[in-house]
Amino acid sequence: MMNKPAAAAAMALAAGLAALSGCHQHESAAPAATAPPISAAPPIGAAAVDARRLAAREPDQWLTLGGDWTGAYYSPLKDIDAGNVGRLGFAWDYRLGTNRGQESTPLVIDGVMYATSNFGRVYALDAATGRELWKYDPRMDGQWARYACCDAVNRGLAAFDGRLYVGALDGWLHALDARTGQLLWKVDTVIRREHAPYTFSGAPLLAGHLLIVGSAGGDFAAARGYVSAYDLTNGELRWRFFTVPRNPADGPQDQPHLTAAVKTWNPAHRWEAGSGGTVWDGMAYDPTLRLVYFGTGNAAPYNSYVGGRHTGDQLYAASIMAVHADSGALAWYYQTVPGDRWDFDSTQKLILADMSVAGRPRRVLMQAAKNGFYYVLDRSSGELLSAHNFAFVNWTRGVDPKTGRPLPAPAADYGRSPKLVFPSEAGAHNWQPMAFDADRGLTFIPVIESGNVLLETSDRRAGLVEGQFTTPAFVPEAYDPAAMLRLYGPLPPLARLARGINTDTASRGYLRAWNVAQHHTVWETPTATSWDGGVLATAGGLVMQGDANGNLNAYSADTGERLASIAVGSSMMAAPITYRVNGTQYIAIIAGYGGGGVITGIPLDPASAAYRYGNDGRIIVLKIGGPPPPLPPPVAEQPLPMPPARPADTAQIDAGEVLYNRFCSRCHVFGRGILPDLRRMQPGTHAIFNAIVLGGAYAPKGMGRFDDVLTPVDAEAVHSYLIDQAWRMQAAQ
Ligand code: HEC
Repeated sequence: MMNKPAAAAAMALAAGLAALSGCHQHESAAPAATAPPISAAPPIGAAAVDARRLAAREPDQWLTLGGDWTGAYYSPLKDIDAGNVGRLGFAWDYRLGTNRGQESTPLVIDGVMYATSNFGRVYALDAATGRELWKYDPRMDGQWARYACCDAVNRGLAAFDGRLYVGALDGWLHALDARTGQLLWKVDTVIRREHAPYTFSGAPLLAGHLLIVGSAGGDFAAARGYVSAYDLTNGELRWRFFTVPRNPADGPQDQPHLTAAVKTWNPAHRWEAGSGGTVWDGMAYDPTLRLVYFGTGNAAPYNSYVGGRHTGDQLYAASIMAVHADSGALAWYYQTVPGDRWDFDSTQKLILADMSVAGRPRRVLMQAAKNGFYYVLDRSSGELLSAHNFAFVNWTRGVDPKTGRPLPAPAADYGRSPKLVFPSEAGAHNWQPMAFDADRGLTFIPVIESGNVLLETSDRRAGLVEGQFTTPAFVPEAYDPAAMLRLYGPLPPLARLARGINTDTASRGYLRAWNVAQHHTVWETPTATSWDGGVLATAGGLVMQGDANGNLNAYSADTGERLASIAVGSSMMAAPITYRVNGTQYIAIIAGYGGGGVITGIPLDPASAAYRYGNDGRIIVLKIGGPPPPLPPPVAEQPLPMPPARPADTAQIDAGEVLYNRFCSRCHVFGRGILPDLRRMQPGTHAIFNAIVLGGAYAPKGMGRFDDVLTPVDAEAVHSYLIDQAWRMQAAQ
């Protein structure tokens, strides 16, 4: 659905098609009467991307996830600049028909926008008007959504030679005809599907004639990280590279680099847990060196205290790796967090650049990792050139420049007693794209300043939580020892944990301009929350970032001064992009809140747009001179439905609380969240509670069955707990 009249759509289609056939007619010059019939041939040359176009920096296009092959989220366009950004207004929007999180950046190729949404759905739209050309639903099994740690998200697609490639959340890679949206072929990228709930949330990477894909899943048991390389044309598997060793009980290691790696794991490690190291986001490819780069996630389980397995570097978890595209053999690696115990994935997006370092020209690779450090590596050799923290950290005392290893810090050792560790599991920077402006030598990083109270869980009643990152972790705002007593036993007060920690413990977000050569923040500006959007930088001297409160903000790249703040009425996490069609520069963003930081048990902030206007996913496109964007209708507070008869069995309610916290609370929060507050179920929902929870009645909506971990008695207990909670809420009103 789009927000505009049909006649305008037809007119716009004409302009769009004209643009595609190379005619630079202005859109308003094409009257509706001359519009080609709707059945007109699909756009000529759709997704005509080749190696030459990828290498050239075509300003009007957005050809890859990060804009071009360097992944810098930087555009050479400068029609929109500090002088006119204040007049940025609405061009068009497109509703995605979902309320789940949107983490994707679209592509724009020759006037057509290709965008993805939850589960790996794909949309082809006229980039000047928003007119839908086609859409594609991978029709995945909704049960699989349960295995996504951090919402049913997708981060984008790849385009080459008339084809589009997208990963569905269930791990199937789909290749589509870019002209029609028809499926050409699909391959199952998941190994051992019956054992390991891998999910596919990242974007495929182009690497010469290959397509490289990773997966998520390291927060659930049994995922062993790997990337696969497929032939672009037919989907044949060319190689597969495992990031962590297999269980030595299954025989010698199956790949040479793993023979070295296995020695860095404690023999008593829980091999059946898969060991993690999944490659769920940042990847890059250097066509000259023919190296594929990616970051790996946490070890699994990273709560390595369990059973005294608390030793070893655990290669190659939490690392940045380079693999030869031709052979799939390891070229080099750099482990950012040896023996990770804090969920410090090194999967954040990678940016490639050429720069002088200490007077020598270097081809570098850069990452602002979850662990709070900005890494610059020589991408031909893997040599560490610099590592400096861009956020407050206490997990290490710093990175030793000689060895490249972080220096241990007892402050972060939560094995014997809970600790307040910085950064939090969300990281000082997560998947939200950062942007690099090579002319200014600045990287604009969406930074999270936040810590977590981490608990060792082996002797705690609530134990491990499904998909909950293997260790219970609480932002200071949510840490409430009194409320958590029944779940986790006695816990120290926050004030005691915060003693000696020399920073504000409140979670907050910043946009920081990081001088790459001099390793320091040049300017910073606080953002709306600690979970805002990715960043775009442009040659117009602008840095753009959306926020949770529904404002798309434009800052001066030089000073950080806020030049414009456009209310769009949708919470944003993804990065904006920019492109030009028919001589008009547009800014586009896929809006919708969720993901690991929000879905994971935290009610929406009343100031957020998702709270005020709901969370319907939208692609929002702006241009100079447009009117203010239309806001969605405000959400009205719903009356609390009358719950069923209040249960009396307190032991059952108590048992239900533990199960609810182990299996449900990571998606369903008490309070207004993105998914339903289960205290507010309607009578009809109560009636089919077991069919939903055990029978999979809502699997098509992304609510999987839990009959593998919950018995009918368990489900009854969860239900009793929820009814009891609903009565407590009634009483409080
Ligand atoms: C991975 C995320 C996730 C987890 C974990 C999860 N759910 Fe859900 N749940 C959903 C989604 C998605 C929906 C559908 C929301 C919608 O209507 O679009 C849903 C809907 C429901 C509904 C229907 C609510 C209503 O008012 O319509 C019930 C009941 C429910 N879930 C119970 C549970 C219980 C009990 C657990 C724990 C055993 C649980 N869920 C765990 C994602 C989850």
